Amino acid sequence: RSTQFYDFKVQMTRITKLCNTKDIVTVNGMYPGPVLYAREDDKVAVKVTNDSPYDITIHWHGVRQKLSCWYDGPSYITQCPIQPGKTFTYKFTMVKQKGTLLWHAHSSWLRGTVYGAIVAYPKTGVPYPFKPPYAEHIIILGEYWLKDLVQLEHDVLSSGGSPPPTDAFTINGHPGPNYNCSNNDTYKLDVLPGKTYLLRIINAALNMEQFFAIAKHNLTIVEADGAYTKPLTVSQVMLGPGQTINALVTTNQQPGKYSISVGPYMSARNVTFQNISSIAYFQYSGYSSNNFPLSYAQLPSFNDTLVINTVMDGLRSLGPVNVPREIDTPLFITIGINVQKCTSRTPSQNCKGINGGVMAASMNNVSFIKPNISLLEAYYEKINGHYTEDFPDFPQKVYDFVNQAPNDIPHDTQSIIGTRTKVIEYGSRVQIILQDTGTVTTENHPIHLHGHSFYVVGYGAGNYSPQAASFNLVDPPYLNTIGVPSGGWAAIRFVADNPGVWFMHCHMEVHLSWGLSVVLIVKNGQGKLEALPRPPTDRPRC
Ligand code: C2O
Repeated sequence: RSTQFYDFKVQMTRITKLCNTKDIVTVNGMYPGPVLYAREDDKVAVKVTNDSPYDITIHWHGVRQKLSCWYDGPSYITQCPIQPGKTFTYKFTMVKQKGTLLWHAHSSWLRGTVYGAIVAYPKTGVPYPFKPPYAEHIIILGEYWLKDLVQLEHDVLSSGGSPPPTDAFTINGHPGPNYNCSNNDTYKLDVLPGKTYLLRIINAALNMEQFFAIAKHNLTIVEADGAYTKPLTVSQVMLGPGQTINALVTTNQQPGKYSISVGPYMSARNVTFQNISSIAYFQYSGYSSNNFPLSYAQLPSFNDTLVINTVMDGLRSLGPVNVPREIDTPLFITIGINVQKCTSRTPSQNCKGINGGVMAASMNNVSFIKPNISLLEAYYEKINGHYTEDFPDFPQKVYDFVNQAPNDIPHDTQSIIGTRTKVIEYGSRVQIILQDTGTVTTENHPIHLHGHSFYVVGYGAGNYSPQAASFNLVDPPYLNTIGVPSGGWAAIRFVADNPGVWFMHCHMEVHLSWGLSVVLIVKNGQGKLEALPRPPTDRPRC
């Protein structure tokens, strides 16, 4: 078992994009950041030095952090931020983990520029469960903002309203020719005819779910969120922020120049959306020059949910699965966007939210507020007064958007504000029904769980009904982020076998800021291998 060492220097880097030069926060001066390579079961040590003026933490998204909760990364959940001038070394093991994941900043909105891929290969000598590809490429989707991201978060929250649209969608950091001054800021992937390539596709965007397609080329999905799937061939996929897909692409078309196209998926009602897209070039060797016409990929329209269902319906785990058949911890969690009364959140609001209120989001009607110390530390050291253990197992009310007029906002739109956690016994077999609801709109939410992957045993439109739902306990996909359908539900199952304090939240950054999260505390089991390790002595202090 070897150890992969990395040095991450968080720093300000001057960058020119969209006709504009400014300093952004990067790791090692790179945007996107460096790729972290490891093999299954490797140890990883990443020394993070913060040379930026901002507090920061790094999260290893999709790494389950088996018995290493202290290194998970979400600020004020498992650690205090690394302050400017300070250093912290993250240490974890890729226990039974292979595939494509990502790392990103997990404080303020800094992950808008501070992100990169994690590539975990199988153990030495272990092949992929598909024909070895000719070559592999990482494709990481992002959003580029001209505004400073800490400022952006502050402005959005203090306005009480929704964020402005991003200034550009990016592919491997490049906006592509659809944006100002970006003809030469376009990602180009050179390919040879008659070969099969493995694309490791990651959505690292702050707030936008995105469709992805390559003109005239099919995608054969072989992995999702770092777990192998039965091969599924489709012409386009949608990735929510935090989702990763490995797909095989065969260059079986007329040699030429094809677009890799990325465009928004926006399922909220009453929102019309411009179909702007970002493109990159997928070009057969010899066809890169401007003389060759580009074939454009047709992206679904911004609210096309059928495309997503086609993928979700076909996504199946490849290998043997270990889905809990019996459940001892059933939870039902609503996910919702709501509006608070203007004065209820912070006194300095401008109240630009719907109906003159303040935009908020909640789970089971609780808008989560981060504590100002590490919640994990508060739990471990039994420091009182920073959180409660009364997150409700069931919602008080599910809003039925199927039968409700779009503009008929209920009177009781207020959510409870609090740092409420749900405590779970070690080894519990958990089922969570995630139900999209909300008092102002419904929307597809990419819900991400830290510390565990989960089986998606079912999903559907409308309100969940146990009589009508049928679950796949045979070969459901094993994910860490699930797009809960707009106005619909998803059912996930997992065994809570990793003691610690685990964040579960919407991976759209603005919804997270609005409170769309909860913390699950998984208690210790019997032996040393079932107990939370001691805190690292060099951990940052608040
Ligand atoms: Cu990638 Cu808590 O997130």
